[in-house]
Amino acid sequence: RLRVAVLVSHTGSNFRALHEASLRPGAGFEIGLVVSNNSGSQALAYAREQEIPHRHLSSHTHATAEELDAALVEELTARSVDLVVTAGYMKKLGPRTLASHGNRIINIHPALLPRHGGQGMFGSAVHEAVLASGDRVTGPSIHYVTAEYDAGEVIARHEVPVLPDDTAESLAARVLAAEHRLLPEVVARIAAESA
Ligand code: GAR
Repeated sequence: RLRVAVLVSHTGSNFRALHEASLRPGAGFEIGLVVSNNSGSQALAYAREQEIPHRHLSSHTHATAEELDAALVEELTARSVDLVVTAGYMKKLGPRTLASHGNRIINIHPALLPRHGGQGMFGSAVHEAVLASGDRVTGPSIHYVTAEYDAGEVIARHEVPVLPDDTAESLAARVLAAEHRLLPEVVARIAAESA
């Protein structure tokens, strides 16, 4: 089974969807590690409850970005992680992590990349931008992670309609529901391809 690490900052609903999918019979992957830069995240509470190995790694635990980067590589290596998934992880990955896990790091973004990606485009800011641009369609993208935000090759996208009376909140909820289906699907596909 493909061993997956999930990096998450806050709620972790995508992590949870992925974990639930990993428990279904025949799932080709398992969650081997959860890392959060936020010690109070719901994701870490859920990991504790579910007895999933988890770590808090942040500027509170490591003084410099270099040390943090090295600590993350150490954790990923110690747990024999095959695939890293950043799901609502509000931090850039460091050069060591990128070098050690190369094309084995994917991210989920709540818009149809290359639209509405890049620096500062997180969560509700993305949905506000979609509404402001008048796009009639949006939806999550999954892409390989590189040193630049939201710039790596796109692996999968799922279209979701933008409705005339949508708010950023209603749109976020519709896109998030699609994320919860798309992410397990893509991870299962990667697991099947690497089996
Ligand atoms: C998700 O909508 C994810 O696509 C988004 O943050 C949310 C995290 O929710 N990520 C970004 O905006 C990255 N640019 P979750 O913590 O409930 O999975």
